[in-house]
Amino acid sequence: MAGRIPREFIDELLTRVDIVDVIDAHVPLRKAGKDFVACCPFHTEKTPSFSVSRNKQFYYCFGCGASGSAIGFLMDYLHLGFVEAVRDLAARVGLEVPEEAGMDATPRRDLEPIYEALEQACGWYRRQLREHPSAGRAIDYLKGRGLSGEVAARFELGYAPPGWDNLSRALPGIGAAVLERAGLLIRREEGGHYDRFRDRVIFPIRDRRGRCIGFGGRVIGTGEPKYLNSPETPVFHKGRELYGMHLLGRAAGNEVLVVEGYMDVVALAQFGVDHAVATLGTATTREHLERLFRVTHHLVFCFDGDQAGRRAAWRALEQALELLHEGRTVDFLFMPEGEDPDSLVRREGAEAFADHARRVPLSGFLFDHLQQGVDLGALDGRARLVDLAMPLLRKVPEGAFRRLLLQRLSELSRLQPDELRVLLDGDSKRSHPSVRPARMERHRPSLVRELILALLHRPELGKLVDGDALGKGDLPGLALLAEIAAYGREHPQATTGQVLEHWRDRPEGEHLRRLLAREQLVEPDDLERHFRDGLQRLEARLRSSRLQALLHKRDLDAAEQEELRGLLGHSG
Ligand code: UTP
Ligand code: MN
Repeated sequence: MAGRIPREFIDELLTRVDIVDVIDAHVPLRKAGKDFVACCPFHTEKTPSFSVSRNKQFYYCFGCGASGSAIGFLMDYLHLGFVEAVRDLAARVGLEVPEEAGMDATPRRDLEPIYEALEQACGWYRRQLREHPSAGRAIDYLKGRGLSGEVAARFELGYAPPGWDNLSRALPGIGAAVLERAGLLIRREEGGHYDRFRDRVIFPIRDRRGRCIGFGGRVIGTGEPKYLNSPETPVFHKGRELYGMHLLGRAAGNEVLVVEGYMDVVALAQFGVDHAVATLGTATTREHLERLFRVTHHLVFCFDGDQAGRRAAWRALEQALELLHEGRTVDFLFMPEGEDPDSLVRREGAEAFADHARRVPLSGFLFDHLQQGVDLGALDGRARLVDLAMPLLRKVPEGAFRRLLLQRLSELSRLQPDELRVLLDGDSKRSHPSVRPARMERHRPSLVRELILALLHRPELGKLVDGDALGKGDLPGLALLAEIAAYGREHPQATTGQVLEHWRDRPEGEHLRRLLAREQLVEPDDLERHFRDGLQRLEARLRSSRLQALLHKRDLDAAEQEELRGLLGHSG
């Protein structure tokens, strides 16, 4: 989609604008050393961890991990679409956005009718709950679950009456194609459409900005499926959105409860607990957590106390570790057997959710979980615990929390904290003084990632890379490294922000952004030397694995024999 605007134009635009001016117009910046800082506009904080680099044309926040180019900033801060953000920047510097064929179908304008259809459907469902002749059942059902009219109104609950074509008749101004794209109509194989939501209580789902993006529909009473949800649409992604986000408001400086069901959120609100959100029938994703950490520093996951609930909690924990920057906390509140937050709040009231004694801090849950089936009385068991814990601890950003985890591991394993620290850091300390390499699943940080990171800092270093040499290897990330190097060779002046924009539409773009966001942006004076060293090590590694492969291969063809001779010459 961004492809509609020529890449060269984006490059040109990003060389003309200065990210410092762009951001300063919205968030006043203060100079600090080479960079500019402010309190982060994407999460609540008292001391600035938001920093903008003029050199790199890139911003990032140590606190919440927000990061990107000038374009990315406008998209996130003003909630603009890509094209809108580009237009906004272009207007500032007096450039005209080239209108390519198909530009009219810009993503945003394309989505507008979908948002509009969803908003109208939302209003219509709500009216049906008040006006439809058979709405009595839905109202009785909601009352039966203890909801007041006021809470029903706050959550804009609605009713989809029985019947197959209510919606298209109710919204004649909106074409069936748009209603289908919005997830409201389902296409019949033999032609035509029918309503997705029929005879259900409707829970509208809004994004953080308050736009209606989809619906959940509950069967009235019993029936299958209990909940029917909007499908993935251009505006609705279950792995990203949370139910109730828009109602958190600014108050979310405090903690946020994360629950599993629509009804949990609504019932909690009925009892005055108005800081809960729900995942939408999916496991907790990293994106969920990133979004949540933009509005709060304290998350409390409310999961069932059973096996499934504990598994879900563990998955959430694994996703959270990397995001546990200073000051953030995650607690778990396990529901008693057979209860969910809805039933618990009904039985025990709001206090049950404020009671800190009931909560298990992430650290406690982590070690409890790892200790299962491990005998700490035995040396083997303690070693096993260390083995299990290390990859997880490595994910946690350096800081007080990581030190506390290490401390606890030391108590349990009876190894000295210093010994554990050596195991934890491996040789990563030595590889780069201030650009920390990305934490990896494996024990050593990946060389390839380290090199990619250096290239993101200084794209011009691409001139040192021999693309052909890399092309033959098959390490993860190698192709990307070669590609970024090639880009850097062609655009030696490119900034970090420009490289990121170049990869925006590709899955790797997100990896790159995260890689950067996780690292300190302070680059060491000797980045170039480190890069050269790393490159040499990489090339040596590739040569040796190629050599191994050729030595083990039977029947080499002429070219391979030649290559083998070359490699032997090299290594000998
Ligand atoms: P639950 O069954 O725990 O939901 O499923 P709940 O909110 O407690 O339901 P009731 O109304 O009190 O009985 C949790 C979530 O999983 C998704 C929904 O998002 C639901 O809120 N789900 C569940 C579905 O999508 N489909 C289903 O059939 C069931
Ligand atoms: Mn329930």
